[in-house]
Amino acid sequence: MTASVRIGLLGMGNVGGALVELLQEQHSDIAALTGLDLAITRIAVRDASKPRGELYGAELTDNVAAVIDADDVDLVVELVGGVDLARDWVARSLQAGKSVVTGNKALLAAHGRELMDLAGEHNVELLFEASVAGGIPLMRALQKSLRGEPIERVMGIVNGTTNYMLSKMTEDGADYAEVLAEAQALGYAEADPTADVEGHDAQAKAAIIASVAFGASVTDADVPVQGISGVTAEDIANAARLGYVIKLLAVVERSGDEVAARVHPTMVPTSHPLATVRGSFNAVFIEGGAVGDLMLYGRGAGGRPTASAVLGDVIEAATSVSHGTVRRLPPMADARLRAPEAAMSAFYLDLSVEDRPGVLAEVAGVFGANGVSIRSMEQQGLGAEASIAFITHEATERDMAATLEKLNALPSVNRVGAQYRVIGG
Ligand code: NDP
Ligand code: HSE
Repeated sequence: MTASVRIGLLGMGNVGGALVELLQEQHSDIAALTGLDLAITRIAVRDASKPRGELYGAELTDNVAAVIDADDVDLVVELVGGVDLARDWVARSLQAGKSVVTGNKALLAAHGRELMDLAGEHNVELLFEASVAGGIPLMRALQKSLRGEPIERVMGIVNGTTNYMLSKMTEDGADYAEVLAEAQALGYAEADPTADVEGHDAQAKAAIIASVAFGASVTDADVPVQGISGVTAEDIANAARLGYVIKLLAVVERSGDEVAARVHPTMVPTSHPLATVRGSFNAVFIEGGAVGDLMLYGRGAGGRPTASAVLGDVIEAATSVSHGTVRRLPPMADARLRAPEAAMSAFYLDLSVEDRPGVLAEVAGVFGANGVSIRSMEQQGLGAEASIAFITHEATERDMAATLEKLNALPSVNRVGAQYRVIGG
């Protein structure tokens, strides 16, 4: 016996359009596998007069509220994006007793806790698998398979545009401006690439990962962020010489009973699985106390990969609708966030120094006096061209900032150059 579940779709752009097609293609298999007869009955868009693909019987409108409130809509899929309007629409749907599936990372990073609580109050579900790393089933892995896992750290390449750009810089020796123009021409980077290249997209995803992995309410504003616009071809070549690639990582970790989350370009050893993630692919590397290391890899964006994640959520929510049950997650606790200056990393630091006796001892003394232990160092060039690349053991941001301040003031240091956090080793 099949159970009919009717869907109201908000947004029919890249992802919404792909969802309409994928559901049509998969309809009979889904019915055979799950007993669900899924139908999109209504679709809301901004401009209903625009030419579109096949609607397969759905009614198209520019009236979002009418879709949410319709009697022939059992669950709502939000694929518009943005924060304020989407927040109102998702809240209205939940208050009407309709579960919501969304791929909207900006919304969840800003208002996830409030909306999860609202879903709980109204005994419905809010599912958001597509919001982080597109087609990779990360949310479900964290919420279900790894529920009992003492997760220590999650490190993700969660932005395809910047990974594409860094991969091109690494593989072709191209510079930043060149690969940005190429990423825009290929449609990876938007005309205004700020959200991707300055790390804000990854910042929102880091906040969602922190909330889901550690059950603590973390917003994007809690996540310190540095993007890739300062990464140069020279930095990439220097990293390669030392056996590293530079990746933009969202790093979320437990530190005692605190959670720390941040986004920054990071030097990753070439032997680390994350170093092998090329082009616009995403990957999330999880370090668990019991399971050990694991990595999820795949397409983090694009209509069909993202629609695949949305459809998985739709089936889950529709199953609950048809059974009259909901999967309730416990309410999120307040996060005890580690102060950014207390976060620990190993660092890479490139210094231009005078090439004369005693300089190395002076410089090393500054590291030592500020509690930063040097793991390796290598001098390049001679005389006025001399530079020393240091890699430290783990140190706090606070101690490293103090070290940099003192090094900047040292007469024998001509220039404090590139600085990167470093993982593995
Ligand atoms: P698009 O810009 O391609 O599509 C947005 C859709 O929303 C369009 O159909 C548009 O209507 C509609 N829309 C915009 N404003 C309104 C409004 N005020 N009222 C009603 N409808 C409106 O976005 P995407 O499909 O790329 O992204 C959708 C969501 O999925 C976003 O939250 C995004 O972050 C998320 N996501 C996207 C990924 C991707 O690869 N694209 C990957 C992971 C998540 P119209 O067609 O008339 O313009
Ligand atoms: N702009 C994002 C990326 C896709 O480049 O990965 C949507 O999250």
